[in-house]
Amino acid sequence: SLVDKANYRHFMAKEIHEQPEVVGHTLARYVDMATERVALPVKLPFDFKNIQRINLTACGTASYAGLVAKYWFERFARLPVEVDVASEFRYREAPLRKGDLAIFISQSGETADTLAALRYAKAEGAHTIAVVNVPTSTIARESETVLQTLAGPEIGVASTKAFTCQLMVLASVAIAAGKARGQLSEEDETRLVHGLVEIPRLMADALSTELQIEKLAHRIAKSRDVLYLGRGTSFPLALEGALKLKEISYIHAEGYAAGELKHGPIALIDETTPVVVIAPNDRVFEKTVSNMQEVVARGGNIILMTDAKGAAEATVDSLVTIVMPDMPAAFTPMVYAVPVQLLAYHTAVVIGADVDQPRNLAKSVTVE
Ligand code: G6P
Repeated sequence: SLVDKANYRHFMAKEIHEQPEVVGHTLARYVDMATERVALPVKLPFDFKNIQRINLTACGTASYAGLVAKYWFERFARLPVEVDVASEFRYREAPLRKGDLAIFISQSGETADTLAALRYAKAEGAHTIAVVNVPTSTIARESETVLQTLAGPEIGVASTKAFTCQLMVLASVAIAAGKARGQLSEEDETRLVHGLVEIPRLMADALSTELQIEKLAHRIAKSRDVLYLGRGTSFPLALEGALKLKEISYIHAEGYAAGELKHGPIALIDETTPVVVIAPNDRVFEKTVSNMQEVVARGGNIILMTDAKGAAEATVDSLVTIVMPDMPAAFTPMVYAVPVQLLAYHTAVVIGADVDQPRNLAKSVTVE
């Protein structure tokens, strides 16, 4: 059944391992695999040509999916995007124009702040899309358009498979937006969708880093603080990595944009603070390499997540390099999410924490 642990020790482990399958299901719902074109399952009640701005709102891990999507909407569709956590968005009463698009992302579809933000956006006359995993949820019922993630039931309190499925939906919508706005040609669309079609297989490849990560977890488990760095779409993933580690292993962690290193976190670097660098060999890779050099120069220990080319070109001594499969740069967050999640999971297991039910946290926060 979908709601037992099968042969896994924890739901979280099972849910991490299910990702190639459920991200694949989600993909099949949002693209036409034969023609490699986006094919949204519902007709949107607006034309992306008429949208001037998107507000993406969510809580926790779902908000980091929104932050990744910001890069996609801006790059593919040249659409300005604001991302906010729901608790700020709702009370700030952010101005929305009638006909603006507001997207709400939620696994449960019941998060109180996200629901209140949705109601606010509706009252302002915005178009609303809910990216939700539970189609019968309140957020799904109340939003104008529902785009479902097909992650299946997520039991572990720390979100994993819902996150990568949210990314798949948002990537598809961003490509559709780029197409509708004349920013992407048919060729561009096919190339991008082809990149999405490859994701489930690449995620399965990424799972093969597990033994190496399990070993690394013994070292991370002894740390008091861990720093996560990334640039571009790897920046939100750095935030997600730090959140995951905090949530389930209770080790203090911070995620930072790699370029901000010198504006603060560099002061924390010494031989006791591992620095997890998420750096696929993309257009900002060189910049991240120089940040790593700054870390190494201060005695910091780097755990580098990159691809084979990145590993060869990174002229720094890392403590551990986790080599990820080669893939199109645009969609690396879905694949790099896997080692990021595995590292938090195995660290929590080493520590002996209650992985599926971390202290003080709830799966779905339905009260403020
Ligand atoms: C809680 C969970 C997180 C989740 C967040 C948002 O904090 O522990 O894993 O990301 O709520 O939940 P939602 O159901 O709205 O995605």
